[in-house]
Amino acid sequence: MTQDGSHAIDVLLREKRLYKPSAAFQKRARIRSLPALRSIIARARRNPPGFWAKAARDIQWMKPWKKILDWRPPHARWFVGGALNVSANCLDRHLEGPRRNKAALIWEGEPGDSRVLTYHELHAETSRFANVLKSLGVRKGDCVGIYMPAVPEAVVAMLACARIGAMHNVVFGGFSAQALRERLVDSKARVLVTADGGWRRGQIVPLKGVADEALAGAPGVEHVVVFKRAANAVGWVEGRDLWWHELMLAAPRDCPAVPVDAENPLYILYTSGSTGKPKGVLHTTGGYLVQTALTSKWVFDLRDEDVYWCTADIGWVTGHSYVVYGPLACGATVLLYEGAPFHPEPDRLWSIIEKRGVSVFYTAPTAIRACMRFGDDWPRKHDLSSLRLLGSVGEPINPEAWLWYYRVIGGSRCPVVDTWWQTETGAILITPVPGATPMKPGSATMPFPGIEADVVDRQGRPVKPGKGGYLVVRKPWPSMLRGIFGDPKRYKSQYFDPIPGAYFSGDGARKDADGYFWVLGRIDDVINVSGHRLSTMEIESALVSHPAVSEAAVVGRPDEIQGQAITAFVTLKAGASSNAGLKDELRAHVVRAIGPLAKPSDIRFAEALPKTRSGKIMRRLLRELAGSGRTQGDITTLEDFTVLSKLQSGGEEES
Ligand code: WTA
Repeated sequence: MTQDGSHAIDVLLREKRLYKPSAAFQKRARIRSLPALRSIIARARRNPPGFWAKAARDIQWMKPWKKILDWRPPHARWFVGGALNVSANCLDRHLEGPRRNKAALIWEGEPGDSRVLTYHELHAETSRFANVLKSLGVRKGDCVGIYMPAVPEAVVAMLACARIGAMHNVVFGGFSAQALRERLVDSKARVLVTADGGWRRGQIVPLKGVADEALAGAPGVEHVVVFKRAANAVGWVEGRDLWWHELMLAAPRDCPAVPVDAENPLYILYTSGSTGKPKGVLHTTGGYLVQTALTSKWVFDLRDEDVYWCTADIGWVTGHSYVVYGPLACGATVLLYEGAPFHPEPDRLWSIIEKRGVSVFYTAPTAIRACMRFGDDWPRKHDLSSLRLLGSVGEPINPEAWLWYYRVIGGSRCPVVDTWWQTETGAILITPVPGATPMKPGSATMPFPGIEADVVDRQGRPVKPGKGGYLVVRKPWPSMLRGIFGDPKRYKSQYFDPIPGAYFSGDGARKDADGYFWVLGRIDDVINVSGHRLSTMEIESALVSHPAVSEAAVVGRPDEIQGQAITAFVTLKAGASSNAGLKDELRAHVVRAIGPLAKPSDIRFAEALPKTRSGKIMRRLLRELAGSGRTQGDITTLEDFTVLSKLQSGGEEES
């Protein structure tokens, strides 16, 4: 929570419009009306474990569970005693029927190349690569780092880990060497799977080069498997580095999926929290698969004939749950696109939808806002009539963007599912169920059946409708995180200590009189830039590691396209001169430390930062300054008032 976060959360937005799912959609939906959904919710509320146990019957188990839920707050174990294999659920079981030769992955490369892998082929590739991992000494419980472009082999590598009971740690391909190194070291990865490069905006991102730099400080990594994607020149360490295609040639095709315990770790994924270094969020097997599969089926209404496209990178949780595990468990056809959304022209997304007949499309508000800005002519050039359902995730979607998405992209016929969830929740928790939930633009609507979410005050008491509060979840759910890798104390202190008797999400929200949830965004020191969570702390430490910087405070300011933009207030050491050159240098320094995502849009040099008497930086004031240029509200705890007037009179700095 913010140091000065005791202030009420202001609620400014009031959106009244209501959009009902069309009769045509409703007719063939799984859940066809609001009363039908409400009765499922009511039943699930009476017996949440019973609800999830029923959902678990859609999954193939190798050994039945003995107990649905073992809840010793704050620790949950789901499907205790059960055994299964995620890759068998995503692949093998589809081979027995007509899905065998159905496309599992339709891949579009940025330069215009493409490939299709059927379930049969994806199964074969995964089995081979699982044997490759075994031949490199990877065993059950080991961790494999994955630092890949969005190519089918990234999915193969993830599923291959699951097949042999190893866990993966996928690191987003936009992260820097330093960020990759930290994650490899923290997760104790033994093998890294990467590519020579990947295509982005017409350029090759030299992943292997970055990996080499990262590995200089990650001695635990014994082998690097390199997939040849971009054919760029790469450095090579004999004995350590191995080509993907050479290993695959030698690998046998048969690799039975091993039964693993329902609570066996499936993956670690690093995400930003309010303090300290990124947290390795740990997800396990049974509950995670049950909930990602059920939400894929109900929220995206997936059918065998759909072409489903989630634009998230596999380096984020959305890529894990809704590009790979959920949809493949449902036997869906998943589209995977390698590159940038507006390359070579702003209509790349729409041209892919037209080319492949995409029917279900899931993306982020930041992309929708950027498309809106390019104008309606780009989507209008394309036949988007194959679309039947749209989704949004990653940050609150403003009603204007929602309406544009609904009308211009969805032709006013597709429900829009605005799905709220987090890396920690593993799967969607608050969302419309298309076909049943009347939608209000900007609201994620209601908790999914089996989820007890609420908006409360600091003491955990529900706040009145219309009032802002903290978004919490009161009961355990199957896909919840099981811990923070290597830091059990932080799990409790971060998520369960702040609000008595509940999981605390770090988000503010309000509920309206109809029980609809309106997520207001993060209330801790995390900013959401283009749908990606970044810790202000981490950016601050990157800045402070520069020799000229004495102190730094990073805040978000509202930005039309990115949602939030990063503003850094920086005080310099004596003798350092504050010029534009230094600003560029600091920006480059942050990019080196974390990656381009974390690059500050504005850097403002200050003589001092506003602090409380106890020495805490008053971020609220900085946020207000960065946003509107003024401060409002209480400043009585400010220690030195001149600091503020100096910051205010500092005027607009060039960015
Ligand atoms: C925000 C991404 C409003 C929220 C799946 C959350 C949203 C954080 C929505 C998690 C939404 C995600 N409406 N806000 N539909 N979806 N968020 O871990 O602040 O990358 O806490 O997971 O994104 O981001 P994460």
